[in-house]
Amino acid sequence: MLKVPYYPFNHIPEKLISEWKTAIDQVIESGVFIGGSFVEHFESEWSTFIKCERSVSVGNGFDGLRIALEVLGVSKGMKVVVPAHTFIATWLSVKAVGATPVGVDVDRNGLMDLDKLEALNDEVDAIIPVHMHGAMVNMPRLLNWAKPKKVKVVEDASQAHGANLDGKSVGTWGDAGVFSLYPTKNLGALGDAGIIVFADQVLASRAKSLRNYGAIEGKKYDYESLGLNSRLDPIQAAVLSVNLKYLNEWNDKRIKIANMYEEHLNENIKKLQPAALNSVRHHFPILVPNPEQVARVLNEKGIGVERHYPETAARSYAKVNRIKDSIPYPIADSISSSTLSLPISPWHTEDQISYVMESLNMAIADRSIEI
Ligand SMILES: Cc1ncc(COP(=O)(O)O)c(C=O)c1O
Repeated sequence: MLKVPYYPFNHIPEKLISEWKTAIDQVIESGVFIGGSFVEHFESEWSTFIKCERSVSVGNGFDGLRIALEVLGVSKGMKVVVPAHTFIATWLSVKAVGATPVGVDVDRNGLMDLDKLEALNDEVDAIIPVHMHGAMVNMPRLLNWAKPKKVKVVEDASQAHGANLDGKSVGTWGDAGVFSLYPTKNLGALGDAGIIVFADQVLASRAKSLRNYGAIEGKKYDYESLGLNSRLDPIQAAVLSVNLKYLNEWNDKRIKIANMYEEHLNENIKKLQPAALNSVRHHFPILVPNPEQVARVLNEKGIGVERHYPETAARSYAKVNRIKDSIPYPIADSISSSTLSLPISPWHTEDQISYVMESLNMAIADRSIEI
């Protein structure tokens, strides 16, 4: 039986692994294990790649979000709009700076519903649009709403590295853009990592200080704020510089796999996001009435799947904060109860993806699953 892991780390090409090893060796030879030229080099390469003024690397995406909010002045008593359906880190980052998340339901594509955003009655201070599964929120429309109200915008671009709208990169539309560089992301490290992008040098400099205990940029023991320790390791930076060279090629591979699914999956299977969204296909979510059962059937055939996410961030957040009656978000709830992500990555072979489709189509034909 062909095995198709959800994310096949065991299929990473030898050539790439040897490039990583060379890069790591270079860091070891440099004798610099915190900060230094490998980190600066990756930051400047990322700024060039997405065409932004300045990039500030951090330890992970969650810290990136909380640092971005903090440098934009979001603090206790303030309100931040977040989509009901996202990874929980988006909501938790708001709590981390002492502010309150204000949920907005998502649309049928799983992206923040801008009609509902525009109908909001609350006075809010900031908004975090999340570019889910590789597809971008309509940023011109969102900025039309946010800018006149002076609402700060932090893009959570953790699932959409390399995406763009009208040629302008994801992450560069708002006041700040945050990317998790978790290993399975479109651009990932070999461990935790993240990066924030800014158009404003002053904000970037404050973020740089915050990530390093609040020390003033360029000074070691002279502090300007209550900072934290969230620095990108040079070893991860060196690996990320290698991976960045391949990001466009890897995104093309993901798009090719998504196109195969679009073309050959049983036409009755609902896809969460249509090809027209111009996505970099971080995930390929389908909607089925019984995702756990479909997962079991596929698992029995050696196919790994994931669920992004089986509970909305709004509900998880309400639960952990012991808020009894979480507000209903009908579309987010309906997506989370039916979503199932099929394997997609630069490392899957066409044979593996064909096997996933055949297995799913056959299971529908012989009624071992219902859609
Ligand atoms: C949308 C979104 N936001 C934030 C994060 C948090 O990133 P990290 O795991 O690097 O802290 C993730 C990562 O999974 C994510 O998908």
